[in-house]
Amino acid sequence: MKALVIEKTNGKPGQVYYPLKQVDLPKPYVRPGEVLVKILAAALNHREVFIRQHLYPGINFETPLGADGVGIVVETSSPDLEQQWKGKRVILTPGRGWEGNEDGPEGKYAIVGGTVGVSHGTLQEYVALPASELEEAPEHLSIPEAAAIPLAGLTAWRATFTKGKLRAGHNVLITGIGGGVALFALQFAVAAGATAFVTSGSEEKIARAKELGAAAGVNYRKEDWSKQLKGLLPKNRSYLDTVIDGAGGDIVLQTYGLLKPGGVIVSYGMTTNPKVVFPMQAVLKNIEIRGSTMGSRKEFKEMVSFVNKHGIKPVVSTTVNGLGRADEVFEIMKKGTQFGKLVVEVGDTGEAAKL
Ligand SMILES: NC(=O)c1ccc[n+]([C@@H]2O[C@H](COP(=O)([O-])OP(=O)(O)OC[C@H]3O[C@@H](n4cnc5c(N)ncnc54)[C@H](OP(=O)(O)O)[C@@H]3O)[C@@H](O)[C@H]2O)c1
Repeated sequence: MKALVIEKTNGKPGQVYYPLKQVDLPKPYVRPGEVLVKILAAALNHREVFIRQHLYPGINFETPLGADGVGIVVETSSPDLEQQWKGKRVILTPGRGWEGNEDGPEGKYAIVGGTVGVSHGTLQEYVALPASELEEAPEHLSIPEAAAIPLAGLTAWRATFTKGKLRAGHNVLITGIGGGVALFALQFAVAAGATAFVTSGSEEKIARAKELGAAAGVNYRKEDWSKQLKGLLPKNRSYLDTVIDGAGGDIVLQTYGLLKPGGVIVSYGMTTNPKVVFPMQAVLKNIEIRGSTMGSRKEFKEMVSFVNKHGIKPVVSTTVNGLGRADEVFEIMKKGTQFGKLVVEVGDTGEAAKL
């Protein structure tokens, strides 16, 4: 089967950009408790760019890239599994080693694709995996939309609800709305009945976020963006309850004045700066900053069921057909011009679209 890995070249972390290499690997076989999934599409996360730049821990040059995948179960290891899964359109969990503990993984946690700990990715034609690592793909989704869900959806779910404790009627700020995680957080917040504000480096992305239900947005490239945001908060609830941030840097400095006392900043990433300044003024206002990562198997199930219940359609920016065209979507992610997820169709989607 065809698969996509990275090729080792010389260069320092941050300066190197490992090329993609298409390889032929043996088709995996199912062991007891496992099923074989024919992958139809895989979505990118910023993680894959960091892997290619050698800015990510545990890189493995032999393991195919990709944490997000949708496919069809084509083979099973028992009659029970055959009855339950054969022919179904499924999405794959993006991590291993975290069942349900709310605080963090119970054991050693590993993320699927391109790193040590899990031997497969999703940018490969077939994946054999335990049947317990599947959820049925919500029926209202196209194949690229289903592929978009796993890693970003799970990260946004945990940040928004488990760590952010967002409720109907709350005001939330979601930064960098062009990002995959940020867009899921927006869709989840709107579906939950919260009032969502966004930042972006692009006016066009702010306008598109409003079409998805954001109340207003400001451009983070403007120095006074937090002052502008203050003027946009509703008169009857003129503060933020929660900030969901993937940028890092000066996010606390910019938002502690807008948050209610005891308000929460959930940090799930630090795209712009791997450090956050936490000033004494935020301490005096009882502001909390909470680190948040992907999430547990239990949260994954809850998230997929919420997507189903609310008919949420993930935003897909661009889809390319075939592993050989993956570099096109990597280039878009590197430039940051996308609005939504970037997807690579791996197999023949025509057949699956009919299911
Ligand atoms: N902790 C975890 O488990 C976990 C899981 C998933 C992701 N992450 C991390 O979260 C971050 C986002 O991931 P992603 O996959 O959603 O990335 P992505 O799709 O590449 O999006 C990154 C976004 O960052 C925004 N951005 C750039 N400069 C910014 C600034 N100065 N202020 C605010 N936002 C800014 C951009 O928003 P605009 O386009 O709107 O300007 C861009 O779309 C990455 O650092 C990633 O590593 C962590």
